[in-house]
Amino acid sequence: ENHKLWGGRFAGKTDPQLEKLNCSLDLDKRMYAEDIEGSKAYAQSLKHINLLTESEANSICEGLDKIKIEWGTNEFVIKPGEEDIHTTNERRLKEIIGEPATKLHVGRSRNDQVTTDMKLWLKSNLKNLQEKVCELIEVIVKRSLKEIDVIMPGYTHLQRAQPVRWSHYLLSHAWSLKNDCERLENNFGLLDVLPLGSGALAGNPLNIDRKKLAENLNFAQITENSMQAVSDRDFIADFLFWASMVGIHLSRLAEDLIIFSSKEFEFVTIAESYSTGSSLMPQKRNPDSLELIRGIGGSLFGQCCSFMMVLKSLPSTYNKDLQSDKEAMFTTFDKLQSILEVTTGTVRTLKVNDAKCKSALSFEMLATDIAYYLVRKSVPFRTAHHIAGKVVAEAEKKLVNICDLTLEELKEISPQFEIDIGRVWNYENSIEQYQAIGGTARSSVLDQIYKLDSWLEQK
Ligand code: ARG
Repeated sequence: ENHKLWGGRFAGKTDPQLEKLNCSLDLDKRMYAEDIEGSKAYAQSLKHINLLTESEANSICEGLDKIKIEWGTNEFVIKPGEEDIHTTNERRLKEIIGEPATKLHVGRSRNDQVTTDMKLWLKSNLKNLQEKVCELIEVIVKRSLKEIDVIMPGYTHLQRAQPVRWSHYLLSHAWSLKNDCERLENNFGLLDVLPLGSGALAGNPLNIDRKKLAENLNFAQITENSMQAVSDRDFIADFLFWASMVGIHLSRLAEDLIIFSSKEFEFVTIAESYSTGSSLMPQKRNPDSLELIRGIGGSLFGQCCSFMMVLKSLPSTYNKDLQSDKEAMFTTFDKLQSILEVTTGTVRTLKVNDAKCKSALSFEMLATDIAYYLVRKSVPFRTAHHIAGKVVAEAEKKLVNICDLTLEELKEISPQFEIDIGRVWNYENSIEQYQAIGGTARSSVLDQIYKLDSWLEQK
């Protein structure tokens, strides 16, 4: 027997391989609640234009509520050959309430239904990802306050550059994540536009009140062009790009920590609960958590890229190619959620090795400070930079640290050097120069902590 809702004009059967390829239920059943919510609201709209009686509308809504419970308790039985969540729910509704079920789909198409379901789903689930991002920011902020005294080499090109606070380094990642949160909020607006009432492509012929429908479904606006409405998956692409960006941020944090956790650095120790061993080498303790984050972080952009390729050159309105939007959306959602959780756990439990961080500092990292010292004595910066370079070269030639050159030796390079140069050979002093907003001085780092803290508080 043919369950297909579009079976009327077909005499023969669908090829079983095509049936399998065409079926999206495995993925889109995850939107069962949203599909039901949309249908209940649509039934109300039909009631208002007298296409359903009060009792028919009630029976539809009650039937849909029962179906929702069946899905929720895992009792819903999918029949062989069923296509997607929309047809499955309608089939079941007819089984439960009979005749009135066959009146529900008038004026509606799966084309406006599916994109409505997806927007509803994202609207209620993105908050969860945002919370996960905030949790990670919070962990970073807490550590940063506690470990503000830890100082370490800051790197550019992965070469020792200038001393910084460990907290300043950690917070750099928190600020990127805060931008991600804000970027996500900008996307909420585009999700808040209801496509339902666009039909297959031409619109709704029954003059339903779409504004009322939007109100009932908690959408701020309605789409203004039915062809655009069933065509549009920009909101999915936006989400995928957003997730890719978060993935990239997490991958960069992961990469830093992988490097920092190697024996050569040993700035951090990853907790056992976030490391694994080797089946061959007994001594090994590998940062698998971070490697998974790094790899998966990159694969999220793969999802984005692949879905963009599906969208490219599609003819207007709905085409079945679009069905792959669910795979992209759910895979991305789940993977991002899990790497966010693992990142938060890894960062929360890692140990920072204060002594190792400090012992990785070396005096040539203060060469910039020699230049600043001279600038404070009115030497123009370019000249000062050049003199500082000479100091580095002289120390290299004599096989000593720059701080071990005598005042006489320094004076030979430039008469501006005086006894107070001794103050420069101090990492803390170096760090404390950077007091302008955004710098690594204690006061600036505390200011960052304060700002992020109060931002988190109003989340
Ligand atoms: N399962 C379909 C999808 O996810 C629903 C829309 C189907 N529409 C159609 N005209 N075949 O894209």
